[in-house]
Amino acid sequence: MDEKKVIAVIGATGAQGGGVCRAILKDAGGRTRVRALTRNAGSDKARELKMLGAEVVEVDIDDVESLKRAFRGAHGAFCVTFFWEHFSPEKELAEAKNMADAAKHAGVRHVIWSTLEDTRKLVPLYDSRMPTLMEKYKVPHFDAKGEANRFFSERGLPTTFLLTSFYWENLIHFGMGPKRGEDGNLYITLPMGDRKLPGIASEDIGKCAYGIFRKGSEFIGKTVGIAGDHLTGGQMAAALTKALGFEILYNAVSLEVFRGFGFPGADDLGNMFQFKRDFESDFCGARSLGFSRALNPAMQTFETWLAENVGHIPIDIGSRQASGE
Ligand SMILES: NC(=O)c1ccc[n+]([C@@H]2O[C@H](COP(=O)([O-])OP(=O)(O)OC[C@H]3O[C@@H](n4cnc5c(N)ncnc54)[C@H](OP(=O)(O)O)[C@@H]3O)[C@@H](O)[C@H]2O)c1
Repeated sequence: MDEKKVIAVIGATGAQGGGVCRAILKDAGGRTRVRALTRNAGSDKARELKMLGAEVVEVDIDDVESLKRAFRGAHGAFCVTFFWEHFSPEKELAEAKNMADAAKHAGVRHVIWSTLEDTRKLVPLYDSRMPTLMEKYKVPHFDAKGEANRFFSERGLPTTFLLTSFYWENLIHFGMGPKRGEDGNLYITLPMGDRKLPGIASEDIGKCAYGIFRKGSEFIGKTVGIAGDHLTGGQMAAALTKALGFEILYNAVSLEVFRGFGFPGADDLGNMFQFKRDFESDFCGARSLGFSRALNPAMQTFETWLAENVGHIPIDIGSRQASGE
């Protein structure tokens, strides 16, 4: 009889959920097995997880009945929402509520909810330091996740609230890699001034989450934050310079300039960086490096992540101005 406990993982073909699946699958002697949840069991990524030993089950997080089926018999559930698929905090709230309802219905014994701070607790809507967005939010993709915490706690679900950090993969996939400025130099651009940005290799989120599941009840009811490094833009540029072998400078643009870059979500991300900048000690303090490494001894630093990934970072050598000032 298979006595291994099932952990159901939302977003199994994505960054966070994929990391959780791989962490469980690599621990062959472990006491858990993984149920990888995806909208399409026939996709290449889903079939790869199946080949590695995962049970693959189809789900749509907008359909609570499909979530109830997907969580049936599961001991644990890793829950994450996908703001950048739709840019709607209301949809994110509804999806988190679906997950909490389904976990309650299925009697899940340990939920990890991948959340972020509700920034309105420190910057209320009337606070004019940063613009209010969509009438109800300061940082929509943070605030909705933080607001959604209550769906898990109000239902009395045994939940660990996991605060994640800026993925360094944003340098690869999110257009944040070095770009050539008008002066001919290469820059990474962040509106963080000289403040530190907690960052993480996205794969490590899954390893930390698995570390939390392995601890049993220790972190149930708790909020835990994780990061691999806390670095200033200048320190990130210096690490990039060392890894690439040519100079990358830090372009510390103003928040107004960043919010005005015009790409979808620039205002949301501008406010996010302002929150991280203005509340540096709270934000970094909630993401202890020592604690993260205790959960996941293989935790990568920016330098070790770069050693593996620097070749994937696109370098925009065009003439587009990086500074925008
Ligand atoms: N980028 C950052 O620096 C950062 C940092 C912290 C937190 N976050 C947060 O991370 C979240 C995204 O997580 P991620 O990076 O792991 O996402 P991701 O890599 O973009 O993966 C998204 C996965 O979600 C699945 N999915 C999308 N819509 C779905 C639906 N309706 N039902 C079921 N599955 C669905 C897709 O799988 P299938 O196509 O196989 O269904 C896809 O593989 C966002 O909310 C973001 O705010 C991001």
